Amino acid sequence: MLPCAGSATHDFTPMTSEDVTLKAATAADAPAIRQLAHDSWWTTYGGYLDRGQISLMLELIYSEASLLAQFETGQSFTLAMRGHTPVGFTGFQPKPAEPHTMRIEKLYILPSEQGRGTGKLLINHVAQAALAGGRPQLELNVNRNNPAVTFYQRLGFTVVDTVDTPYHGYVLNDYVMQKDLRSPNAAPLYGI
Ligand SMILES: CC(C)(COP(=O)(O)OP(=O)(O)OC[C@H]1O[C@@H](n2cnc3c(N)ncnc32)[C@H](O)[C@@H]1OP(=O)(O)O)[C@@H](O)C(=O)NCCC(=O)NCCS
Repeated sequence: MLPCAGSATHDFTPMTSEDVTLKAATAADAPAIRQLAHDSWWTTYGGYLDRGQISLMLELIYSEASLLAQFETGQSFTLAMRGHTPVGFTGFQPKPAEPHTMRIEKLYILPSEQGRGTGKLLINHVAQAALAGGRPQLELNVNRNNPAVTFYQRLGFTVVDTVDTPYHGYVLNDYVMQKDLRSPNAAPLYGI
């Protein structure tokens, strides 16, 4: 997923799942986001992406300098916290030139924390931010080999496109998935 808008100033979200709370991240959280990415990407992509590609993407997307630039250009980050420990994060922003669409640029949960409802909690949070910002459609890219495709389908996303995007000598083999938050299928998203 190359990069899964809102305002960069959204507040703490009073949603919990198994004692996980959500926290709007600031630039001071860039090291924590970088660490979460490094702790989840190898497990996520090690089975089907070239190691060089993973290293390159971690550096280009998750260096502290890159994360700070993403904060400054309007990407919102939310951390999932178990107590005082970050266990996952999402990054989202308005899709340029498409006033109804919110892009989910990033969504990663630590391997040891997966399957406990945190991913769903974060998607629900983005959905609420999107609706609050007048953007009733969610969109993301996900690698076609990623089991997360099934997770997104379970939450009501559908595949709308198949794209092969050149990326620094590699190719990103993605599905583009969308979810219309106004459709009746959106209801289960809020059933947490
Ligand atoms: C994909 C990911 C974000 C899902 O988050 P999670 O916290 O593990 O998932 P949840 O516990 O919130 O699951 C929500 C629902 O999706 C289902 N689900 C989760 N992962 C699934 C999978 N791989 N296949 C099928 N269903 C899945 C759960 O069973 C649950 O269903 P339910 O609501 O009926 O009980 C997380 O597993 C992850 O970080 N994976 C590695 C990184 C990654 O691939 N990120 C996406 C990049 S595009």
